[in-house]
Amino acid sequence: MNIRREIIQDYLAIAEVNRLAFGQDNEANLVDEIRNSRRYIPELSLIAEVETTVVGHILFSYIDLVSEETLQVLSLAPMAVLPDFQKQGIGSALVKAGLEIANVRGEAIVIVLGHPQFYNRFGFEASVNYGIESPFPVPEEFFMVKLLQNSQQNYTGKVIYPPAFAKV
Ligand SMILES: CC(C)(COP(=O)(O)OP(=O)(O)OC[C@H]1O[C@@H](n2cnc3c(N)ncnc32)[C@H](O)[C@@H]1OP(=O)(O)O)[C@@H](O)C(=O)NCCC(=O)NCCS
Repeated sequence: MNIRREIIQDYLAIAEVNRLAFGQDNEANLVDEIRNSRRYIPELSLIAEVETTVVGHILFSYIDLVSEETLQVLSLAPMAVLPDFQKQGIGSALVKAGLEIANVRGEAIVIVLGHPQFYNRFGFEASVNYGIESPFPVPEEFFMVKLLQNSQQNYTGKVIYPPAFAKV
């Protein structure tokens, strides 16, 4: 299994991985919308491939953290692994690869909405512990933040997602 940055020729396969993993089109459409927005970070749209088949995908893009000022921070969403390839460590490898690139870029924090049993192992914690408020009415342990090497104390506020996320 190899992890690399996406290229244009991967777009259709990435959409299919998202459709099959989530059982709907919303996340594949979200990926397209983010790609077409200023929130897209090409080096943080990663695929996992086995031989020449795309079996997994992860996307980190910019969202807003709003307090007295508005800061752009990373969101991890969506992430998908083909059903036949799940529970083999591919999702974890994609998260770790993305976090390494984010660290090298000097990003400060990553926000994710997901299952704590999966994300805690990478150092994600409930965002409320850091004064970061979710825009969603979800149990607080599901809305998480990971502080990166460049994070500072003043990353607090309310998370606002760009319009692309409204349909997910
Ligand atoms: C979530 C997903 C990307 C994980 O990919 P993966 O390659 O199976 O992940 P890994 O093999 O690295 O890790 C699997 C571990 O995550 C856990 N896990 C995966 N999905 C989980 C979920 N929804 N809730 C709780 N735990 C979950 C597994 O139980 C397993 O735990 P274990 O290591 O203790 O056995 C994959 O299951 C998937 O595509 N799911 C459908 C789409 C989805 O829900 N995406 C996440 C949205 S944020």
